[in-house]
Amino acid sequence: MGFAQTDNGPEILEPAIALEPNSKSEITEAIKLTNFSGKKSELTFLTIKSGVLCVGLGKVSKTEPLEMETLRRASAVAARALAGKSSALFALPTSTTVATHAVTIGVELGAYTFTEFKTKTEKTSKGLKQANILVKDLFVNKLLFQEAQIIAESVKNVRNLVNTPPGHMYPETFADYVKKSFKRNSKLTVEILEEKALKKQGFGALIGVGQGSINPPRFIRLAYKSRGADFHLALVGKGITFDTGGISLKPPASMHTMKCDMAGAATVIEAFRAIMKLDLKINVSAYAALAENMPSATAQRPSDVVTTFGGKTVEVLNTDAEGRLVLADALGRAQKDKPDLIVDIATLTGAATVALGSRTAGIMSNKDDARDQVFASAKETGESMWPMQIPEETRTILDSKTADIANVGFTPNPAGGMMVGAAFLQEFVDENIAWVHIDIAPPAFNEGAPYGYNGFGGTGVGVRTLVHLAQKLAKN
Ligand code: BES
Ligand code: MN
Ligand code: ZN
Repeated sequence: MGFAQTDNGPEILEPAIALEPNSKSEITEAIKLTNFSGKKSELTFLTIKSGVLCVGLGKVSKTEPLEMETLRRASAVAARALAGKSSALFALPTSTTVATHAVTIGVELGAYTFTEFKTKTEKTSKGLKQANILVKDLFVNKLLFQEAQIIAESVKNVRNLVNTPPGHMYPETFADYVKKSFKRNSKLTVEILEEKALKKQGFGALIGVGQGSINPPRFIRLAYKSRGADFHLALVGKGITFDTGGISLKPPASMHTMKCDMAGAATVIEAFRAIMKLDLKINVSAYAALAENMPSATAQRPSDVVTTFGGKTVEVLNTDAEGRLVLADALGRAQKDKPDLIVDIATLTGAATVALGSRTAGIMSNKDDARDQVFASAKETGESMWPMQIPEETRTILDSKTADIANVGFTPNPAGGMMVGAAFLQEFVDENIAWVHIDIAPPAFNEGAPYGYNGFGGTGVGVRTLVHLAQKLAKN
């Protein structure tokens, strides 16, 4: 049950199908005996009827209408609180189709758990088994309900990929997952490059990053041609299945979450899947650059030089700035397909967290309007992202004495690290092609307490923004 917060205490927000007056007054009387106020995402359980979980939806009025993000988060918080239960009925104010969409997303993501590697699963680590959502008119709601389910499924797939330990999830197994779950047909191309092909085609930076590992790199390219579409969207993802930093080794305290460093690759694959399933009238391609960044006798050294896909040479001054290296190749490859817009998504810099906090991604671009478009989609879906500039002077930090460009500044300087990463990437896209870079290092992995629809671990952030963006660009 959802409640508004009012000056006269919590008030029931009528669910899609109106409550019978007796039930309504019974719940209203019972809630008065608690100190539940109805503020956003507040929870109280009433032991009346077969049990009523009350969730706050904050102040709701003509001037402050119910925001879809409030509804998403409240449904998620409720779904999480119902972990271990066999079923529940969500009687929230879902009288509009967008509200049904929001509740579906919230419930699906809030109820997510990752128990794959537990032999004995405690009751609470298993999510809610079955959720029923009360809607007014199934016929009207069906399409948006199905859409929300497709999108939620993709977000949960990203979470699974991210949460899978790096000993199980490495370039080859990631590629196997893609091979198994995408069957090529007349509209869909699936291309997976192994070492030999990578060498032959000139993926020098990806090979450099991967050469210290016993698990060789892979490059995935998916392309979907939709009938009647005229826009080509290219999605590029960073896929470091584990980032030790390489020879520029990370300290232990910042290494143990680095299985999340392939979140960008997982996000583009899964956003692609949702866009395809939704049958959007847009041509879309996904590119995933997969490698494991390890220190070893065969690893690349600080000051080594690699040649990227597009031919530019890079001096690798810090092997821990590996994401931008594999992306340099991936951006070069994406550009070859002549897309109208390239969006890359990557857990690129710790500096993004310094700039934006641990729940917000940074959006940077070579075109302000493309950046604003992505920002608008992020706002619409409730994914926290913020536009940032790429100051002109940033590029000069990366001047190299030996190669065309260096992957970090020669003299360590922490200023604006997120933008320095973006300035590097920008060098690998033609200035005539619109390109947007999303740094999801802060929100990709939640190390702390659950918030909104995110529990511990991979969040799947970015999928919903990218799918929304595709919906806006599509001809449907
Ligand atoms: N994968 C990391 C960035 C990261 C940090 C992601 C924290 C998620 C959470 C990236 O490869 C990295 O190591 N970046 C370096 C760049 C530096 C060497 C310029 C960093 O942020 O320290
Ligand atoms: Mn790194
Ligand atoms: Zn990394």
